[in-house]
Amino acid sequence: MARTPVIAGNWKMHKTVAEAVALAQAVKDGAAGAAHCQVVLAPPYTALYPVAGILRDSRVILAAQNVHWEPGGAFTGEISLPMLEAIGCRMVIIGHSERRQYFGETDATVNRRVRAVLDSDLQPIVCIGETLEEREAGRHYDVVTQQLDGGLDGLTRRSLLRIILAYEPVWAIGTGRTASPETAQEMHAFIRSRLSERFGEGAREVRILYGGSVKPANIAALMRQPDIDGALVGGACLEADSFLGIIHYNA
Ligand code: 13P
Repeated sequence: MARTPVIAGNWKMHKTVAEAVALAQAVKDGAAGAAHCQVVLAPPYTALYPVAGILRDSRVILAAQNVHWEPGGAFTGEISLPMLEAIGCRMVIIGHSERRQYFGETDATVNRRVRAVLDSDLQPIVCIGETLEEREAGRHYDVVTQQLDGGLDGLTRRSLLRIILAYEPVWAIGTGRTASPETAQEMHAFIRSRLSERFGEGAREVRILYGGSVKPANIAALMRQPDIDGALVGGACLEADSFLGIIHYNA
């Protein structure tokens, strides 16, 4: 089965409701003809519900940036899967490096979230990737292996097929320093081979996105790599023109 590319915009902590609605509308209009890929928007929590209204009856998929594993309860400040399901969210980013770095996310908590998401109707976009220090120490493959093994612990072969992975080297995030297409491909191929060791054949069907300073100017070369199945975009998704330039990488 061919892997349909995914172009996802992670808005991080940007956009008021009014700004979010305007951006979502512009992306929806501009992406209407983009049948070659799945387009995903991940606005901040406050904008999810209004953006869901904009995206209804469109091909653009709504995602959240994080979720708690419990379905409800006394967890001040958290958001649950039933809440996301109820407004039409279909995907959720899990384990972004900023959550690992600033908010205490670990492979163990990533794993709890991933398992909960797989029990829901949503699909997880699971983020992994090494820091500059780890790469310079030659530990990048070990780090990514550990994140994969820990984050996907206990998953079945069948549930693996619902996962989307995002390889985001921390040194490439927000720095303007993209991994070269070859460097990214090397890691994507490594990730796929690790998945096939653990889960078998199904690894061939898992989409692995690249993230880190993706721009309209570098997306096409990344997408030509055999194991790069899309992009998780930060800075360049905050303006409709640049995000649409990435979505239409094949134009
Ligand atoms: P940038 O595209 O700003 O480097 O961010 C990437 C990212 O973290 C997406 O999740």
